[in-house]
Amino acid sequence: MLPFVFLAIAATGAAAHGYVPFIEINGTVIPGWDIAKDPYTTPQPLRVVRGTKLDSGFISDVTSTDITCSIGNSALPPGPITANVAAGGSVKMLWNTWPIGHYGPVLNYMAKCATDDCSTFKGDTGSPWFKIQQSVYENGEWASDTLAKNNFTYEVRIPSNIASGSYLLRHENLALHGASNVGGAQFYPVCVQLTVTGGGSLAPSGGLSFPGSYDAEDPGIHFNPYQGEAANQAYVPPGGDVYPGLT
Ligand SMILES: *[C@@H]1O[C@H](CO)[C@@H](O)[C@H](O)[C@H]1NC(C)=O
Ligand SMILES: *[C@@H]1O[C@H](CO)[C@@H](O)[C@H](O)[C@H]1NC(C)=O
Repeated sequence: MLPFVFLAIAATGAAAHGYVPFIEINGTVIPGWDIAKDPYTTPQPLRVVRGTKLDSGFISDVTSTDITCSIGNSALPPGPITANVAAGGSVKMLWNTWPIGHYGPVLNYMAKCATDDCSTFKGDTGSPWFKIQQSVYENGEWASDTLAKNNFTYEVRIPSNIASGSYLLRHENLALHGASNVGGAQFYPVCVQLTVTGGGSLAPSGGLSFPGSYDAEDPGIHFNPYQGEAANQAYVPPGGDVYPGLT
């Protein structure tokens, strides 16, 4: 019996981590990637949120190409569709769930798609990524818990002065509850294919790579979140500061 019990627990644990079945832009709810349905639908539906393999589990190897946009992303053909968002507007990420106590920051990056059609752009080579927003630890609470308490939603504001065009938005929950051991951090990246409209003239040069910019020994990745208030307040997330000059 024991192996079956173990498998059942493991499967439940993976399903409980959360994914993003919907996003919302300017009041309109758009399908994201529903792990419970989309992979089982024929033909596979086109989504603006990049698909992930049949798993809502985490990525722990920062050197894996899964770290770019999700598990199996580099193998799955993304759909040739994007969601329009106004520069200065926001994309609300509607997670299906997130466990309270899976402490960590919420990090948000963008990369200009190398072509007008984001679907041919994987984002896993070079340094196309720049950080646009991060939520860390405020008022005694990790951003992940704030997201969970806020009906599992998180709002990403698209900078108002970036150039119009097609981008990947990489939204990431980083769970640190097991991160006091090297390799114990859990990454949950989600990528959205966007067309930014009405933008400005800033064309960020990027500088960050996924994989590449995260290191298992980074103090924001190898971190014990149970040391108390002072340590949590001093926590510095990986990926550096928000890209300069964004408005
Ligand atoms: C947002 O939605 C409102 C109401 O539907 C609409 O009038 C407005 O044009 C939309 N804005 C953008 C940037 O799409
Ligand atoms: C919570 O979010 C879901 C979509 O993710 C939505 O259907 C539901 O109405 C929201 N509940 C509240 C109380 O806002």
